[in-house]
Amino acid sequence: MNRDYPEKLLQSKKYRDVCPDTVRRVWAACAARYKKPKDADKAAREALHGITGAFMTPADAAACADSLRDWLALDRPDALLAEALRRHASTLERLPLFAMDALYGRIFDITGKPGRVLDLACGVNPIYLGARGIDTTGVDISQSAVDLINGFGASCGAPVRAVCADLLCDGGIPDERFDVALMFKVLPLLERQRTGAAAQVMDAVNAAYIVASFPTRTLGGRNVGMAGHYSDWMEAHLPGNRSVAGRFETENELFYILKEL
Ligand SMILES: C[S@@+](CC[C@H](N)C(=O)[O-])C[C@H]1O[C@@H](n2cnc3c(N)ncnc32)[C@H](O)[C@@H]1O
Repeated sequence: MNRDYPEKLLQSKKYRDVCPDTVRRVWAACAARYKKPKDADKAAREALHGITGAFMTPADAAACADSLRDWLALDRPDALLAEALRRHASTLERLPLFAMDALYGRIFDITGKPGRVLDLACGVNPIYLGARGIDTTGVDISQSAVDLINGFGASCGAPVRAVCADLLCDGGIPDERFDVALMFKVLPLLERQRTGAAAQVMDAVNAAYIVASFPTRTLGGRNVGMAGHYSDWMEAHLPGNRSVAGRFETENELFYILKEL
């Protein structure tokens, strides 16, 4: 086995944006499973593609940054904030902005308005929260999402920041105390990366509330019973130290609000 190989994968154009810990973690798992470097390489690339997906292309990240610059220059109109948020596949599904405002209103009716939010596997979601004045710390393996959030916080003084880290690696989950931890559309993705990972991450979160969400429609927009499937999953994987404080569905997402006992 060529032990230098993950360094080549790290420098490849496709995965340069991904947290190096993630590339090494995935490579190590594949190298342990496959004898031939060629097979391990193929498996690692497939796994990385599944994790990083096509949530936001480099062109989308550049367009997001442009919209945020214009948003700041033009007295912060909601239309340009929406234009920036639609560049990430996950936030796009929650637009328009009035629907996002209603969604967070619903969440905060249950949790209370949080002083500090932790957004795990955040995509560009903290940009919305920061624009609405909510202090948010994001974590994601996408360096470009993290750069957009930090650039946004620095340029307009919004109370947001993010770190590029892997939730499944040591030190990936901040251990400070938060009022609310968001895990939007991430638990199934973590579970696919490592069996049992979703429960481990929920257990490690230091927050009064966890708000977890699940997609309820396929990428093509079809309703194929995902809400029932993920409800069953969530009920079976409730952390021992939490109870369900709320559960609701929007047009394409299922939300669980878990309160610390
Ligand atoms: C489906 S998107 C959800 C984004 C955001 N939570 C939202 O709903 O708007 C999944 C996100 O998880 C991130 N991700 C995947 N695996 C991760 C891991 N092991 N640690 C941290 N972030 C991860 C991806 O980069 C991507 O931004």
